[in-house]
Amino acid sequence: MEVSETLLVYRIGTLVTPEGATARSGAAQGAVRTLRDAWVLIEGGTIAALGTGEPPAAPGARRLDAEGKLVTPGLVDAHTHLIFGGWRQHELGMKLRGVPYLEILARGGGILSTVRATRAASQGQLEEKGRRALDEMLAFGTTTCEAKSGYGLSVETECRQLRAIQSLNESHPIDLVPTFLGAHAVPEEYRTDRAGYIRLLCREMIPAVAAENLAAFCDVFCETGVFSAGESREILETGLRFGLRPKIHADEIEAIGGSQLAREVGAVSCEHLIACPPEGISAMAAAGTVACLLPATSFYLGAAYAPARDMVDAGVPVALATDFNPGSCPCLNMQLVMSLGCLKYRLTPEEVLTAVTLNGAAAVGLAERAGSLEPGKWGDLVIWKAEDLDYLCYRLGSNLACAVVKRGDVYYSGTEGRQAPEGA
Ligand code: NIG
Ligand code: FE
Repeated sequence: MEVSETLLVYRIGTLVTPEGATARSGAAQGAVRTLRDAWVLIEGGTIAALGTGEPPAAPGARRLDAEGKLVTPGLVDAHTHLIFGGWRQHELGMKLRGVPYLEILARGGGILSTVRATRAASQGQLEEKGRRALDEMLAFGTTTCEAKSGYGLSVETECRQLRAIQSLNESHPIDLVPTFLGAHAVPEEYRTDRAGYIRLLCREMIPAVAAENLAAFCDVFCETGVFSAGESREILETGLRFGLRPKIHADEIEAIGGSQLAREVGAVSCEHLIACPPEGISAMAAAGTVACLLPATSFYLGAAYAPARDMVDAGVPVALATDFNPGSCPCLNMQLVMSLGCLKYRLTPEEVLTAVTLNGAAAVGLAERAGSLEPGKWGDLVIWKAEDLDYLCYRLGSNLACAVVKRGDVYYSGTEGRQAPEGA
């Protein structure tokens, strides 16, 4: 870790960034600002100025030479299930034999198998595993990340997961946004008493999470066989009463009204949306709900891809994220998500950039602090081993992050193109 009060990033070949402190939609999603021969000055972790041509003298500042490369804002991964026990590689064989995701869950596997492993893990173990994932994310260019609970499904274990997130937020450079997802599945002990589990969620879990101030958002998995639209509404409205802003896992596998419910409860974001119907798209466009799309999950499940192009064209602000989790998407590489955003969603590289920066920040309530390179925002940026944005989206599966700057501190990744900061 390199720590400095003032950092000057100079000799930037091309700097590309969306602009603003709110989500961008429609044509504005692809309208990014491009600067050539640019520099960025970061003071006390916040962007003080940026410009083109001769950089300011900035006496005493640490200087980072971008060597003519591409610079973008740090990436915002607006949807992850960061904290969990175990992995699920043992389900790969079942998947290959064609057993559907919801069928694996119905047999007590899937999410429920991760619940067993998570309940068996201590907070320290959960944190250590989360830290390793965050280190890898930072190396891939992620500087802000949402993290959901949802593998505890009891008051104690949900709070343990959220405390692990809180502790990592304090100790790891990546800024974390905690989301309570107690409504991720009905746990085995409530299999015959769904109503009892919903009562537990509303009367005990949400109040406990709010009392310790452990989450900013409340999410539900609104899906056939998991939580119905009516149950989801009750849970999200309870969350709202306790100060947790709503998010919804909607229309991931089947459309049961989640994207319309988003409008009714004023959800900040609606997530997955593979099976989103045209009414869901209009509802999100009218409400300004951010559609948080997860193309690596479609890839991993062998499922269809969300109608992203239709959403952008209809004026829905679209964010893209990894969905990092041990089941449907054990991938935390936002660069891969960007490539899939172009190839599978047919979004332009500029639309994709907004989706993984400013719109992601809006999906987690941080658009005033993160998601673009502008004075007053966090000094979060990535120097890429790329000459332009097209190249970054066009390459597939490599890590092109060369230097990652988080609140003015410099982190390095990759072996090729590694550079040492000069001076002070
Ligand atoms: O976003 N949709 C629900 N939850 C996760 C999957 C979690 C898991 O399989 O462990 C998802 O796809
Ligand atoms: Fe998810």
